Amino acid sequence: MRKPLIAGNWKMYKVPSEAELFAKELKNMPAYGDRDIVVCVPFPAISGVRRILAETGIFVGAQNVYPAKEGAYTGEVSPLMLKDAGVLFVICGHSERRQIFNETDDFIAEKVKAVIDYEMTPVLCIGETLKQNEAGETFTVIEKQLKTGLRHISGDAIRKIIIAYEPVWAIGTGKNATPQQAQTVHRFIRKFIEQNYGQVARDVRILYGGSVKPENIDDLMCEEDIDGALVGGASLRFESFSRIVGFQKK
Ligand code: PGA
Repeated sequence: MRKPLIAGNWKMYKVPSEAELFAKELKNMPAYGDRDIVVCVPFPAISGVRRILAETGIFVGAQNVYPAKEGAYTGEVSPLMLKDAGVLFVICGHSERRQIFNETDDFIAEKVKAVIDYEMTPVLCIGETLKQNEAGETFTVIEKQLKTGLRHISGDAIRKIIIAYEPVWAIGTGKNATPQQAQTVHRFIRKFIEQNYGQVARDVRILYGGSVKPENIDDLMCEEDIDGALVGGASLRFESFSRIVGFQKK
């Protein structure tokens, strides 16, 4: 059984004092035993938010990492630093990092490995652009991103990974993939994992991301291969995030 997971991605929003106020508000969410909740917060807010959310069952995640333990990498943050700060989940290869910062599948693969090496959970983001979607290239793109992004992951380590399917055309646009569209790609992803890693594919959580909101979460969660959501904009406000976290399968 795969435990559903709702992850908020705050992106570059909320200064640390705002983040801490928001974390205090999040403590008012009901406790759910049947789903995991994560907030991926900006680096400067990690310690403060983590302190506030300790013992709430809400986990703290990071939005990026540099794949080296330490070194002369001005401005970067290592997996060791994240681990020590109490981070459990790390987003790797978000489409904004791919597009704005030119991150390649090879570099993202190193991040995924580094996160695993430090016993945290990578959330590997993949997804096609509008142009690729319209050209009918969705599956080719997804397959390449998976193949390369997971190239250092062998055998059972795949269990420790979360995949987030985020069609780029749906991110921050208000235009989400329909549950059926998402399900088709999620099924493809699970098949890929099964072909490459075997039956363990049944245990790997695959999240959907891209304009997830209170109005569409319940339908998305009804799909067999959608195990949760990576939520951007709607994770920044209590009402919308708590409603998404409290999804009900119809
Ligand atoms: P969105 O972002 O929910 O605002 O579309 C999702 C994401 O970028 O992870």
